[in-house]
Amino acid sequence: MTQFSEADLTAAVVKSFEETPDPRAKFLLQELVKSLHDYVRKTDLNFAEWQYAIEFLTRTGQKCTPIRQEFILLSDVLGVSMLVDAVNHRERDGATETTVLGPFYVGEHKEMPHGSDISPRNVTGENMFVQSRVTDLKGRPLAGVPVDVWHADDDGFYDSQKPAYATQGPSSRARFRTDADGRFFFRTILPSSYPIPTDGPVGEMILQTRRHPKRPAHVHFLVNAEGYEPLITHVFIGGDKYLDSDVVFGMKDELVANIEKRSDPKMPDGKEAPTPWHLMTYEFHLKPGGGMVPKPMTAEAMRET
Ligand code: BEZ
Ligand code: FE
Repeated sequence: MTQFSEADLTAAVVKSFEETPDPRAKFLLQELVKSLHDYVRKTDLNFAEWQYAIEFLTRTGQKCTPIRQEFILLSDVLGVSMLVDAVNHRERDGATETTVLGPFYVGEHKEMPHGSDISPRNVTGENMFVQSRVTDLKGRPLAGVPVDVWHADDDGFYDSQKPAYATQGPSSRARFRTDADGRFFFRTILPSSYPIPTDGPVGEMILQTRRHPKRPAHVHFLVNAEGYEPLITHVFIGGDKYLDSDVVFGMKDELVANIEKRSDPKMPDGKEAPTPWHLMTYEFHLKPGGGMVPKPMTAEAMRET
């Protein structure tokens, strides 16, 4: 009979993974066991707490749907997403900083012509023109690069969080393709800061622990050029009151844009401007390499996995 004491249990569980064929999987599992066991020892975790943790994780899983990812949210508010980001992007070499993908990279990102207005119908909010350029680290333009964009509306919600999504489809999200000079531009509305979803276990934890649930206003960008590291980032709206207390720790100074309030009668593409309007200007610099490109969450994608 093999009986384990508190002192030798960890080593026994670690050893049980010894024959794992994939060396990386073996390493990850063994280190996970060591960290979890350390946590239990350090905290003297009692049965009620352990049970609570199991129920919390169960509820987290149950809250997930094909277009809602409560586990990503959990990773985000615990700072795990930003830590994974940090250890994977230690050397930027002048490339644009990265940040969290977040749980709202969802559904169709339809390719649209430059200048399109991506805001939803019957929208409220202030108009914004976004002009951008994608280059390599030497400032040379990267042409034909798909750029996915998505952001919350003026009411602080993403399209996929609203009932209209089922009938009207995507809004405030699209794909643009850079022109020969690496440029792309579009019209939208100025996003506002917003709370992460608080109707699930993760949001409940944030409120119960007296943290605020807000993210500073931003626009998401996923720039995916062949031969370059995929860039997953946001551009934050300068002056937002939550820039210093982002609930998911995703803010980086370099990603804050000074949004200009304009009253010129024409927008940069020469077309008439509804006044007043805002101008966001931001350039993305990509680093040579490769990497995993996330796919937007969809009911179909969930069925395929
Ligand atoms: C977002 O920016 O969309 C987001 C990121 C992390 C958690 C919740 C939302
Ligand atoms: Fe967001």
